[in-house]
Amino acid sequence: MEKKSILVTGGAGYIGSHTVLQLLLGGFKVVVIDKLDNSSETAIKRVTELAGEFGKNLVFHQIDLQDKPVLEKLFSSTNFDAVIHFAGLKAVGESVHKPLLYYNNNIIGTINLLEVMATHGCKKIFYGIVIVLCSVSSYDLQLLKILQLVFSSSATVYGWPKEVPCTEEFPLSATNPYGRTKLFIEEICRDIYRSDSEWKVILLRYFNPVGAHPSGNIGEDPSGIPNNLMPFVQQVAVGRQPALTVFGNDYSTKDGTGVRDYIHVIDLSDGHIAALCKLFDSNIGCEVYNLGTGKGTSVLEMVAAFEKSSGKKIPLVMAGRRPGDAEIVYASTDKAERELNWKAKYGIDEMCRDQWNWASKNP
Ligand SMILES: NC(=O)c1ccc[n+]([C@@H]2O[C@H](COP(=O)([O-])OP(=O)(O)OC[C@H]3O[C@@H](n4cnc5c(N)ncnc54)[C@H](O)[C@@H]3O)[C@@H](O)[C@H]2O)c1
Ligand SMILES: *[C@@H]1O[C@H](CO)[C@@H](O)[C@H](O)[C@H]1NC(C)=O
Repeated sequence: MEKKSILVTGGAGYIGSHTVLQLLLGGFKVVVIDKLDNSSETAIKRVTELAGEFGKNLVFHQIDLQDKPVLEKLFSSTNFDAVIHFAGLKAVGESVHKPLLYYNNNIIGTINLLEVMATHGCKKIFYGIVIVLCSVSSYDLQLLKILQLVFSSSATVYGWPKEVPCTEEFPLSATNPYGRTKLFIEEICRDIYRSDSEWKVILLRYFNPVGAHPSGNIGEDPSGIPNNLMPFVQQVAVGRQPALTVFGNDYSTKDGTGVRDYIHVIDLSDGHIAALCKLFDSNIGCEVYNLGTGKGTSVLEMVAAFEKSSGKKIPLVMAGRRPGDAEIVYASTDKAERELNWKAKYGIDEMCRDQWNWASKNP
């Protein structure tokens, strides 16, 4: 059978690079586009190496989603079976200071992508029909339309959830411009599906991705003072920051610190493969799934797990609550388990082990 070809936007980034590796190992052909705004081509080289004999199925183009003519050209010269869309800016604090940058990059970039997918989907069915009519079913014909998308949403669209675990039916809200770009793009996807039922879209709401590939060759590479817990812990462990600031220890949680649902980036990547299979095998319409472990872990529990796996002491500085932070957020994973046949395999010990392996190899 012909290998399926997947376009991955933002594939040089943290989650993208791990997902590209899993795709290659799963037998897909992958075309990555990334403007290398927050990543480098080194990640692509390392993924190619890690994929061994499958490395030859990876092609990279440095493309900005805001450059629509170049996107058009790519879609005219390459056939894709589906698109996984990671590309976007994600620094919450920066989005508060530069909302237009975030709306422009994340939303306009996505609209360009969707428009080009729609145009070329139609073109392809128009040209393809003569050649394939007698050999494939109408279902396959529909597959020729490149209207299949997996989008990186975020648990941030649950805002400050009133209860946990968060199910996909919870009311949506956003607490900052970054979160609003996720919310708006989700709504755009629901609208395009309502307007044209040939679209198939899966919105994946990630909880807190951490860890790295067990080889230690790819991982998250934060610059400056990180916003998220594990990149911060990693910088303390390698001596780039003196201590970890803990924002809030008076929450009504087990030890007073905030509780989140951490998920190993490899589990998260595998969730995308499961989502693709669902896109290819069913008439999904537009659906949303949480990708998390369903377990809540406090800041102090995570630090203890990291200290255990790294043998490093992480000095703490207690600080007040950070505006905008929710107290306790974790996922209901029932829907993804039931419909995608996917479940996270790794716990916080493996997350910390692989995070430290990556950090110590790439200080
Ligand atoms: N890491 C998390 O905690 C988290 C949580 C929830 C959702 N997400 C979402 O998952 C996606 C991937 O996140 P990540 O952690 O891998 O981030 P990342 O910054 O490592 O990767 C994003 C990639 O997109 C690229 N990019 C940005 N704008 C682009 C554009 N206009 N054209 C082409 N490329 C562009 C960047 O260069 C970068 O390589 C993002 O959409 C992010 O919002 C991440
Ligand atoms: C770039 O990536 C790092 C590491 O994942 C992250 O901390 C930072 O917020 C990202 N920056 C932008 C602008 O998305």
